[in-house]
This record gives sequence, structure tokens and C-alpha cells, in this order.
Amino acid sequence: MAMAKAAVRRKTAPPKQLNLNVRGLGDSATIAINDLANALRAEGKRVIKLGLGQSPFPVPEPVVEALKAHAHEKDYLPSAGLYELREAIAGYVARKHQVERHAEDVLVGPGSKELMFILQLVFYGELVIPSPSWVSYAPQARIVGRTVDWLPTRRELGWKVHPEELEARFSKDPERPRILILNYPNNPTGATYRVEELKAIADVARKYRVLLLSDEIYGELHHTGQHVSIARFYPEGTILSTGLSKWAGAGGWRLGTFIFPESLDWLRKAMTAVASETYTSTAAPIQYAAITAFQGGEAIEDYLHHARRVLRALGRFSARKLREAGVYVDPPAGAFYLFPDFTPLKDLLLRKGIYTSELLAKRLLEEVGVAVLPGSDFGRPPEELTLRLAYVDFDGGAALQASRGHPSPLGEAFLREYAAPVVEAIEGIVSWLRSI
Ligand SMILES: Cc1ncc(COP(=O)(O)O)c(C=O)c1O
Repeated sequence: MAMAKAAVRRKTAPPKQLNLNVRGLGDSATIAINDLANALRAEGKRVIKLGLGQSPFPVPEPVVEALKAHAHEKDYLPSAGLYELREAIAGYVARKHQVERHAEDVLVGPGSKELMFILQLVFYGELVIPSPSWVSYAPQARIVGRTVDWLPTRRELGWKVHPEELEARFSKDPERPRILILNYPNNPTGATYRVEELKAIADVARKYRVLLLSDEIYGELHHTGQHVSIARFYPEGTILSTGLSKWAGAGGWRLGTFIFPESLDWLRKAMTAVASETYTSTAAPIQYAAITAFQGGEAIEDYLHHARRVLRALGRFSARKLREAGVYVDPPAGAFYLFPDFTPLKDLLLRKGIYTSELLAKRLLEEVGVAVLPGSDFGRPPEELTLRLAYVDFDGGAALQASRGHPSPLGEAFLREYAAPVVEAIEGIVSWLRSI
């Protein structure tokens, strides 16, 4: 019966397209590059994917075991999150960052991205984001109708937010309600902040009573494990955002968390109300498993130690090779991204008809078989020849295992064996540059 109905439906003419306005939103360029990469792969071409920012490492074994043990958990949980998990997260923040928080200060959601969206929905204020920034902050603001104030950063200054620039920006309209997003280690640049820099940014945020959303989702992937939370220096105005997606390799599990100061309890409550009217609560088995992740322990520290070691070696190697080819790029301090600037090779590239980051990304995909994202996706001007490379296309499980049995530091031979596709991609880009 159902099949017969479907057959009838297929025979009828397709409905006329409505003129819908979805606030100017299209597919993100991340998805477009991924689709093109898949299409090339389907044609039998070799494509190395440095586009999508997904952890190469498997979820730590004790966390997987915890998920298995809780597969039977089927009940709805409180919208703010499972109390034991909220306790574990508060304990994690105290242990890692010396920031005193309680279970009541924690909100758990299906990914930190969803929580960021709800924050923008309930908080009436302008969104201040550095350029470059992660691809989703600005579209979220657009969806909820907030204005975005881009704060340009400069390569010469490590693509970082500088307190003088914040001061200049905020002093023009000191009373305006604002959310400033600070993300470090950073996507797309791999850069992080020193304690002195964090303190100076915290001082400006406090002076203008700005709500600071500190997106520290890559905090555990600081390459030498020395991440410091800015919540230590501006506790009363900082929401610390993190989750399982990056450091625990569990992006698809969808679990993120916001940790609030008590002074922002009104905001946490408003967000929880929206959560209860939309997704209700985060998947129960995932929340139980996340307790193990946030409680930490020896196995998880060992996992992180080796993940950082592999990322550090690969990030440094890749940056060095690109620099040798004449590209501006800093060695990353954390996460798994590089943000090379090909401006020094501008004239050469122009001869090949390449004058925007999008053209550069497209040609690298077609001519070298490497998928990367253009800097324009991250808020940079279209003609600036910047790209984001996510150096994650390798078997992270095998690399972790090998790192455990390998004396430090991890050299080029190790990378050639365990991160071969990334090495091949970087060397491919370098030879392509040399050939033009
Ligand atoms: C900087 C940054 N923030 C937040 C997220 C969202 O993470 P999730 O929603 O998986 O917690 C990502 C994911 O790519 C990211 O790169």
C-alpha cells in the first residue's frame, strides 16, 4: 500500500519552488569542499581530506566501555544534565583550571555548538568575534538575528586578539551588551594565549562588563598540556565552553558543556528553559559515559599525552615544510589546525589565475588532490591567500599505539609511517608550489 502510494506520488509533477528566505544561509563551504572531495573520490581520484576538523583519534577505551555499560539507560534526563555528570564536570574544571565551580553551575547539551546557539538566542547582545574564527559563530548570530562585530587580527601578531584593539572597540560604545568569543587553542590558527595575554584580555572584558564565552574545546589538545583557562582571571563574567568532541575524539557522540559562574545563574536558567522546550536532554547513555571522561585518570592522561605528542610533531613538521616553500605559517601550539598565508607567493599564484583563497583551495583539490578550506570561510577577506588545513587524515588509533612504544621525540620517520596521508598532502602542496 505504502509502495503504491509512493509510486503515485512520483508520477505527479513536483511542486513549484517557494520563494523562501532562510536568512541568506546556504551550505557551509566546509560541506561544499567535502562534497567536491567525495565526488572526486567517486571518480577514482585520490583525495586527502584536510578539510573537516575531526579528531583522528578513537574515543579513549574506558569511555567506550562506560558507554557500553550504560547502553540500557533509556529515560529522559534533566534538561540541565545528569547530576553526576555535572558534578564530574565541576570537578574537572577545579582540577584542571583551579576554577571553583559546582554541579549547579554546569549545563550539559548535545554539543557545545548547540549551547552556543541557545546562548545567542537568549542573550540580547552583539556578538564580537575575531577574524579568523571558527565557521559557525557568525551564521548562528545571523540565524537568531544578532549583529556580528568582526575583530580583525593580524598574521604578524599570531592572529590573536589584542587587548588594545578590544579597548578601542569597546570604548566607542561602552554600555552596549556584548558577547566576546575567545577560542584557544584556536580553530583555524592553532594559536594559543600566554597567561599575561589572557590577564590583559580579562581586564578589558571586566572593564566593559562583556560576557566572555571562552571556547576551550581544544584546551586538552594544547600540544604540551599547558592550557590555562581565562575563567581564572575573569571568573565572574566567563562561561567556559568545552565538550567531548575534540579531546576525546567523540564529535559524533554530541556532548558539550557550559560552565557558568554563579553570577550568571540567570543566564544558565534561561538557557535551560530553552533546552527543555527544544531538545529536552542530551542522550542518556552518552551522559553516563561522559562521567568517565571528565573524571579522568591514568588511562585518559596517557591517551592525551600521546595524542598531543603526535599532533605536536605533525603540526611542527607541516609548518616547517610550508615555510621552507615560502609560505607564512606559525607552528601550531594546540589543536590540529594550520592557517598558512600564501601571500608571499601571490605573484606566482596570480600567473595561474589564482587570486582568492577559494580559488586556491579549489585548485589544490583539483591539481594536488588535497581538500582544505579557504580563509574566507573563517571571516578573512576573499583576496587574502589564507587556508585552513586540518592535519587529521591519518589513522589516529595506530599512531597512538605506536607513540606509546616510541622514545621521544617523534621524528620524521615516525610521521612518514603513521601519518603518511598528511605528510603526502603537505609534500604535494610544496611540490605544486615549486612547479609553478
Ligand atoms: C572552535 C570550535 N568550537 C566549537 C565546536 C563545536 O563542537 P561540538 O558542538 O562538537 O561540541 C567546534 C567544532 O568543530 C570548534 O571547532
